[in-house]
Amino acid sequence: MPQIYYLPDERLVDVEEGETILEASRLAGIPHVHACGGSARCSTCRVLIVEGLEHCAPPNDAELKLTNRLHFNPMLRLACQTQLYGEGKVTVRRLTLDMEDMEIAQGQALGQESLGIVGEEKLIAILFADIRGFTTFAEMLPPYDVIYVLNRYFRQMGAVIDRYGGTINNYMGDGLMALFGVENPDRAAERAVRAGVEMLQAIDKFNDYLEPLYHHRLKIGIGIHYGNVVMGTVGSATSQTMTAIGDAVNFASRIEAANKQMGTAFLISEAAYLLVKEQVMVSQSLHVSIPGKRGKYLLYEVTDISGSFPLENSPEVTALSSFQSIFAWAKRSLTALGAFLRKLFKFR
Ligand code: FES
Repeated sequence: MPQIYYLPDERLVDVEEGETILEASRLAGIPHVHACGGSARCSTCRVLIVEGLEHCAPPNDAELKLTNRLHFNPMLRLACQTQLYGEGKVTVRRLTLDMEDMEIAQGQALGQESLGIVGEEKLIAILFADIRGFTTFAEMLPPYDVIYVLNRYFRQMGAVIDRYGGTINNYMGDGLMALFGVENPDRAAERAVRAGVEMLQAIDKFNDYLEPLYHHRLKIGIGIHYGNVVMGTVGSATSQTMTAIGDAVNFASRIEAANKQMGTAFLISEAAYLLVKEQVMVSQSLHVSIPGKRGKYLLYEVTDISGSFPLENSPEVTALSSFQSIFAWAKRSLTALGAFLRKLFKFR
């Protein structure tokens, strides 16, 4: 007989085979919101399966229809549809605990409130970049020029990050945070490091433009870490954004900040280094104290990276894909021609 351990109630309940989680809650007198009456339309009965997913029947069509629309991950289930089987304990956490939770869940189900990503753990590369001394430089400029320079800078950095499949997730004044591997985990750390190297090259070119205008050259600091984050959509109903949260994000930010202390421009964590050590060129490894963390951490100063990476929008890839299309078309045409000729000669 399956059992459910409810959180935050901390109650253990026996369940009949084939019973749903919602039925079990009601029989046990555990308050469990079910605004649509259990017909897979509101999602207010949602629970997080903390452990024991193997004792839950796979989602039925009605559950899939709603949860796919709301981008639930497999651990988030509708209690009204989830039947339990087998011997073992299923730990669930009720997620709709008060009126506000209920309004949010109903708003999401009705499409009035976007749900986005509800909380997924991901292993990604996080890149932080910051302009050194920008505040002092900005104080000497008229407001229009401050925004103009910043926008040109972000535009050029954004183009590099984009080329390597990253996304700028956050702007903090003259700083930015970019994520690599959220959608496509393939070689995320390598893509981030390649982007970092190219950002440093791009800033050199940008300075050639900037110097005659403002008699100033910008310097940037870049920090990269590769680690686990929680991705989720946060914000109020009218202003939501997808973001990454976790120790790995803070660590990446601190690595970027360590550039100032070490007099470097581009530092990466050991976790990122181990993934790119075959290609990356480093000038030194440093044991650095990171604010808010105990002990010293091994960081590597990146100077360059060898080889290349197939870039989605690069001219080479575009040319290659055009060639591949022409080749595929020619192959199809020859096959068709061959079939036609074979038929022709057969009839003669
Ligand atoms: S009670 Fe509405 S979806 Fe489960």
